[in-house]
Amino acid sequence: MLKQRHILQAKQIDPDWLTQSLFPKIRDFKLQSQTESGRAELRNRLVGRKAIIFMAEPSTRTGNSFDTAAKNLGMETTYTQNALFSSSLRKGESFKHTIQALLCMGPDVIVIRHPDNEAGQKAALISESKPNPVPIFDAGSGSYEHPTQAMLDVFTIWEHRSGDLQNFRIAMGADILNSRTCRSLAYLLAKYPGIKIDFIAPKALWPPASLVEYLDEHKTTYTLNDSIESVLNRTDNAERPDYWYWGRLQIERVKWLIRKFLLRMAYRRFCIERQHVIRFKEGALLMHPLPIFAPRPEISEWVQDNYPYFYAEAQMTNGVYTRMAAFDSRLSGNSLYLT
Ligand code: NCD
Repeated sequence: MLKQRHILQAKQIDPDWLTQSLFPKIRDFKLQSQTESGRAELRNRLVGRKAIIFMAEPSTRTGNSFDTAAKNLGMETTYTQNALFSSSLRKGESFKHTIQALLCMGPDVIVIRHPDNEAGQKAALISESKPNPVPIFDAGSGSYEHPTQAMLDVFTIWEHRSGDLQNFRIAMGADILNSRTCRSLAYLLAKYPGIKIDFIAPKALWPPASLVEYLDEHKTTYTLNDSIESVLNRTDNAERPDYWYWGRLQIERVKWLIRKFLLRMAYRRFCIERQHVIRFKEGALLMHPLPIFAPRPEISEWVQDNYPYFYAEAQMTNGVYTRMAAFDSRLSGNSLYLT
């Protein structure tokens, strides 16, 4: 029941629904948005429907992307940023009362980001307790999941490979332990055959046991590496990644000051620089969900400006169409998941 109404976890998403239903819809929306008449048609699709976007953690892309996506389909939106400080959560209100208040506004969908790993699930349960439950879209919960980011990332790969989501290799770094984008992406990719993952991270930030168990259950091949070089040194072309998915040290998830300091130091070895990309497999995409930590970037500025396959902008663009397709699939009455 919960599965069908909400978007809460990449883990729950049916891979065939993605490739057969959602991805073609994203592609169609993207194409349709190229013309003025196409955009006008799209703006008529969900007129009068309301999205509440409630972001209780910082966001540039995800919040704006959901807001833009809703408006591109003619929806109305209420967008709260910085909700830990600007909403009654600041006054000590419970999460339950907060969600109940949002539900009383009569939305058709609630998009929520929150530092609690279980926030999306909890919001969905509160919604389900009402006579007319409203879909909850998880826009990032703690270090746990970020399902629409995984959807847009996998769509970007699907588009790049002309629809063939099998038999490729992806390197993922470098804060696997705390990154919800890496986790959700790995959960989703493990559902497709022949995808191999090379995790690259300081040992202290290797994948959590829950992710390792999940990959084992799905019989996904993965390797654990504590340097970029150990993956770059591979000579067999089949062993070299076709995709590199990189990310920021999730410093806000680290509790102790001394640990923050040690991890910042350790992370210096995990910056993707010119000397690395020149040894990438020819044409390998370099992906990043953004933001990049500008004071000490995990992808050097040279690489950001000069590597022709640095794909972060394409990901952001696809994010808008992915969220449009998610709203449309949900609010036009189709079931989100086939399982
Ligand atoms: C990420 C997030 O919030 O998890 N960004 C995003 O949503 N595009 C990554 C991050 O904060 O490092």
